[in-house]
Amino acid sequence: MAAGILSRFGLNLEDALMARQSKKLLHVMLLGLAGIWGVSQAETAPPANAAKEQKVEARNDRFAPMHPSQYNSWKATSEQSERVDALGEDPRMVILWAGYPFAKDYNKPRGHFYALTDVRETLRTGAPKTPEDGPLPMACWSCKSPDVARVISEQGEDGYFTGKWARGGPEIVNALGCADCHNTASDDFAKGKPALTLSRPYISRAMDTIGKPFEKAGRLDQQSMVCAQCHVEYYFDGDKKAVKLPWDKGTTVDDMEAYYDNIAFADWVNPLSKTPMIKAQHPEYETWRDGVHGKNNVTCIDCHMPKVKNEKGLLYTDHKIGNPFDNFDQTCTTCHTQDKAALQSIVDQRKKDIHDLKIKAEDQLVRAHFEAKAAWDAGATEAEMKPIQQDIRHAQWRWDYAIASHGVAMHAPDVALRVLGTSINKSADARTKLARLLATKGITHEIALPDISTKAKAQLALGMDMDALNKEKQEFLKTVVPQWDEQARKAGLLDQ
Ligand code: HEC
Ligand code: HEC
Ligand code: HEC
Ligand code: HEC
Repeated sequence: MAAGILSRFGLNLEDALMARQSKKLLHVMLLGLAGIWGVSQAETAPPANAAKEQKVEARNDRFAPMHPSQYNSWKATSEQSERVDALGEDPRMVILWAGYPFAKDYNKPRGHFYALTDVRETLRTGAPKTPEDGPLPMACWSCKSPDVARVISEQGEDGYFTGKWARGGPEIVNALGCADCHNTASDDFAKGKPALTLSRPYISRAMDTIGKPFEKAGRLDQQSMVCAQCHVEYYFDGDKKAVKLPWDKGTTVDDMEAYYDNIAFADWVNPLSKTPMIKAQHPEYETWRDGVHGKNNVTCIDCHMPKVKNEKGLLYTDHKIGNPFDNFDQTCTTCHTQDKAALQSIVDQRKKDIHDLKIKAEDQLVRAHFEAKAAWDAGATEAEMKPIQQDIRHAQWRWDYAIASHGVAMHAPDVALRVLGTSINKSADARTKLARLLATKGITHEIALPDISTKAKAQLALGMDMDALNKEKQEFLKTVVPQWDEQARKAGLLDQ
C-alpha cells in the first residue's frame, strides 16, 4: 500500500495497525494482570439457577452482577430511542414496496435495546389474535432477541421455525442481549472472557459457505461475525420459511442477484408492474467486507465497541453500540490522526452524494412501475413484459442493496455509488423498452403519476386503509402483548 496515500489521509497504516494490535495486547495483558477475567469483572459467581437450568440464559439482567460494566453499557443502548419514520422522509419507497409489509411502516434503526419492542410495534407484523394467525412467519423474530438462541438450543431449528410469528409471542420476550453474541453458559464467559459465539446455526452454515468457518476464524474475524448474525442479507427459504443467506455464489450484489435468479426466488410481487421482487434486508456485513476498512480487517468492534475504562480504571468493551463518532477518541483515533471535524465532513459529503443518487434511482423506479402498469392496462402480454420485469427486478434489488446497508456511506461509499449506478442503468433499460412497447399500443404520452408527495398520499394511491391497520395494531398491543409477557413471566422466561 503506497505510503503517499496513507499520509494523505494522515494515517500511517503500519503504525496504526501496530498500535491497534498493541492496544489489544495491552487490553489482554491488563485483563490478565488485573485478573479481570478471573475476578473483578466477574464480581460474583454465576447465578445459581441460571446457566445451569437452561442451556442458554436469555434473561440479560442475570448477568448484571457478574459483568456490571458490560451490562450497564449494553443497557445504555436504550438511550438511542429516537424513532425516525423512513417512509415519512421518502414516500417513494411506499410505491417501490407496494404490496409488501414495508409499504405500511418502516423506521430507521435505533438502539439494540428496542429491537424486540420495535418488531412487536411495527405495522409489518400485523395484529394476530391467536398463535396460528399470520401474516408473518416465526423467522421474523430471528434477529431480535437471545430467546431465539434459547429456543433453537431447546427445540432445534425445525422446532423454532415452525408456525407463524404469533406462536413465538410468549417465548421471545427478552431484549437483544448477551446470549445473542456470547456463549453465556461457558466457564470462560463467567470468568469475564468474551466467549463469542454464533448463536444462530444458519449463520454458521453461511460462514462455512464463504470459506470462513467460525471455529477456525481468528479473534478479529469472529468479532465481525457476531454482528453478521443479524446485519446481513437473508431470505425465508422453503415451506418452513427458515432463514437462509443467499451466499452460495458469493456476497456481492451480483453474486446474490445470480443466486436469487437461479432459484427463481421472489419475496413478493409488486402489484403495479406485477414484477416478482427481491427485498434486500440489511447487508452491512457484506458491504463492510467490500469497503476499505473491511479489506484491511478493521472490524465492526474497532469502531462500534471500543475498549474503554470503567470507574476503577479497568478496560472493558463498551457495549453501547451506536455511532462511533460519538466515541471518536476511542474509535477513529486508534488509527487516524485527522481531527473529528475532518473525518465527519468526509462521511457527511459521502452521505449526501449517496442520498442524491438514491433519490434519482427511486424516481426512475417509480416511473418504471407505473409505466409497466400502463402497459399491462393497454393489453401487453406476459412475453412482452418479461424482459422489462427482469430489468425492474434487478434495478430495485440493486437500489435496495445499496440503501438498506445502513452506515454504507461510512463502510463502503464506493460500493453504494457503483451499485446505485447500475440500478439507474437497469431502470433506463426497462423504461426504454417500456416506451417502445407503449408506442406499439398507441400510447406515446407521458404516463401520469398519482400524488405521492407524502407517505399518507402514497399509501392512499395504493388503496391502503391505514386507519384500519393502525387501529388493529393498537388493539393488539393493548390486549395480546401483555398476555405474552404474563405467560413468559409465569414460565420463568422473563424476570420483570
Ligand atoms: C452484539 C453482540 C454483543 C452483545 C449483545 C453483548 N456482547 Fe459482550 N462482547 C461482544 C464483543 C464483540 C466483545 C469483545 C470481544 C473481543 O474483545 O474480542 C464482548 C466482550 C464481552 C466481555 C469480555 C470482557 C470485555 O469487556 O471485553 C464480557 C464479560 C461481555 N462482553 C459481557 C456481556 C454481557 C453481560 C452482555 C449482556 C448484558 C453482553 N456482553 C452483550 C459482543 C456482545
Ligand atoms: C441478534 C441480532 C443482532 C446482532 C447480533 C447485532 N445487531 Fe445491531 N441491530 C439489530 C437490530 C434488529 C437493530 C435495529 C433495532 C431497532 O431499530 O429496533 C440493530 C441496530 C444496530 C445499530 C443502530 C444503532 C442506533 O442507535 O442507530 C448499530 C450501529 C448496530 N446495530 C451495530 C451492530 C454491531 C456492531 C453488532 C456486532 C457487535 C451488532 N449490531 C449485532 C440486530 C442485531
Ligand atoms: C471504520 C469504522 C467502522 C467499521 C469498521 C464499521 N462501522 Fe458501522 N458505522 C461507522 C460509523 C462512523 C457509522 C455512522 C455513520 C454516520 O451516519 O455518521 C456507522 C453506522 C453503522 C450502522 C447504521 C446506524 C444507523 O443508525 O443508521 C450500522 C447498522 C453499522 N454501522 C453496523 C456495522 C457493522 C455490522 C459493521 C461490521 C460488519 C460495521 N458497522 C463496521 C463506523 C464503522
Ligand atoms: C483499526 C484501524 C482503523 C480504525 C479504528 C479506523 N480506520 Fe479508517 N482506515 C484504516 C485503514 C487501514 C484505512 C485504509 C487506508 C488506505 O488504504 O489508504 C482507512 C481509511 C479511511 C478513510 C479513507 C479511505 C476511504 O476512502 O474511505 C477514511 C475516510 C476513514 N478511514 C475514516 C475512518 C473513520 C471516520 C473512523 C472512525 C469511525 C475510522 N476510519 C476508523 C484504519 C482504521
